Order: sequence, then C-alpha cells, then structure tokens
Amino acid sequence: MLTPKARGSLSERLLEAIRARPRDLAAVVGDEPESVDDEQIALWALYELHHHGFEDVDDALEWHPDLLALRRRLEDGFERRLRSRWPSPGPGFRTETFAEDFFAFVEGHDGASLAAHVQRTADVEQVLDLFRLRSVYHLKESDSTAWAVPRLRARTKAALVELLYDEYGAGDPDRVHAHLFARGLEACGLSSEYGAYVDDVPVEVLEQNNAMTLFGLHRRLRGAALGHLAAFEVTSSLPSRRMSQGIARLGLAQEMADYYDEHVEADAVHEQLAVRTICAGLLAEEPHLAGDVWFGAWSCLDLEDRLARRLLSEWAA
Ligand SMILES: [Fe+2]
Ligand SMILES: [Fe+2]
Repeated sequence: MLTPKARGSLSERLLEAIRARPRDLAAVVGDEPESVDDEQIALWALYELHHHGFEDVDDALEWHPDLLALRRRLEDGFERRLRSRWPSPGPGFRTETFAEDFFAFVEGHDGASLAAHVQRTADVEQVLDLFRLRSVYHLKESDSTAWAVPRLRARTKAALVELLYDEYGAGDPDRVHAHLFARGLEACGLSSEYGAYVDDVPVEVLEQNNAMTLFGLHRRLRGAALGHLAAFEVTSSLPSRRMSQGIARLGLAQEMADYYDEHVEADAVHEQLAVRTICAGLLAEEPHLAGDVWFGAWSCLDLEDRLARRLLSEWAA
C-alpha cells in the first residue's frame, strides 16, 4: 500500500514528510489539523506504521519520536472528542450483574442499521460501496484487539486468545476472517488489496478504525478495547444474517455471503465469550476499569450509528 491522499494541510505536510524521509520530522509536530478529516487521515496513517506500513515510507519511522509526539497530540484530541460524546457512565457499573446489564444496554441502543437496509432495500451499488468501506477494517480484522493481549491477566487473556484464535482461522489460513473477506471482495469484482479504498471512505470509517487502534495500542485503555470488542460481537450475529440475506437477494457473490455466514455462527459464540468471560473477567480482576469498558462499548455503537446515519441519508438522497 502507498500512503493515502491528504485531507488537509496537516496530513499533506505529514505525508510529504514521511515519504521524503527527512532526518528531522519536528517541523510537522506542532501542526494543527484543519478539520476532523485532516486529523483522522493523519492519525490513520501514523497508526498504519504500526500495522503493515506503506511501500513509500521507511519502516524505521514507526518509532520516530517526532511522529510519536504528533500521534500523541492527535490521539489526545480524538480521545477527548470520543469521551465528550459519551452521554452517561453506563448503567451504574454493577460488577455482579455486568453481563445482563451489558446485553440489556446493547439491546436498548436504538441505532440505525445498515444491515437491515442491505437485507431489504439496498441496491447493488450501495452494497458494493459498503464492502469498500468495510474493507478498511475487515482486511485487518481483530488486529487492533490483539494489541491488548499482553496487557491482560491470565483469565481474561486466555479467553481473548480463544476468541482471536477463531478470528485468525483456528490454524487454517483459509479461515482467517480477513482472508474470507478478501475472497468475498474479489468474487464481487472489488480489490482485495489491503487499504485499497482508504481514499474513498468517509471520516466516520476512519474514526471507527482509529478508535479501535487507539484503544488497542494503549495499555491504559485496555478496558475500552475489550468493551468495544464486546459491543462489536454482540451486534454482529443478527446483522451478519441480514447481510447474507441481502447478498442473496441481490445475487451477489456467494464468497461474500460465506464471510457473513461465518459470523452468524461464530459471533453468536463470541458475544457470550466477550461479555461473560472477557469483560466480566477483566472487571473481576480489575474493577476500576468498569468505566472504560462501558466507554469502549458505547463508542463502538455510536461510531457505527454515525456511519449508518450518514450512508443512509446519502443513499436516500
Ligand atoms: Fe470476525
Ligand atoms: Fe467475532
């Protein structure tokens, strides 16, 4: 993958600077983003240095102190914004009833549903658009959650690795979820190249991806990483069934339906594991992380709502 297109003056200077590989990147550290788009693509590119990197950027820049300083500043602003959107501290942080509270909280969250639209009314172009947007995450599915593994104690770590073992194909490279999605993209005539559609996605998609990486990369935010994971899994099985039905309705490739069918089954198990064992286990071991678990869960639902509302209103227009 090559570096993405800039979305403002900060990202333009940053991307130019890392491509040209100057010895001193300090010049970009103090830049302010001119918009949320500008901030998010800059942060996404900085995070990408910790994932697969870019063909046109030296791998050594991953740990360049000036880039870390800029990343830290952008993360601070982003985290403040995410926290400011969080309306309440969850249903009271009761450790004893955490799992029931959590399922009720997700159930009661009345968000817009892209999957319901795909199931019943979307046209082929809209669904292909959605696959392009989703590819930014699904082609590195679970990678940001994996950052949390070494930060956990035994019980939570064992359960998270059990879940990740499935996400990563249970020993079979053909069953890796990111790989299943890549096969689906190709069968639909889309590019399965990692990062191929980053330049086309709305800022809501960058925020979703950056939030997961933010939570995963910071040990301090491990509660948010696992809360996000749990909300993601709890809202996956039924929507995956709807996606699969919409794909069949439109006669789109079976390979893409296979990706969603896998999630109907897998995430019915993962949601129980993520809520009852991973998050409940984390809170039994580290009860002071309760607020962040709820914050991560709420952010997951809210970021998906924001994307869904934007796409549904654009498609309606
Ligand atoms: Fe998955
Ligand atoms: Fe899953």
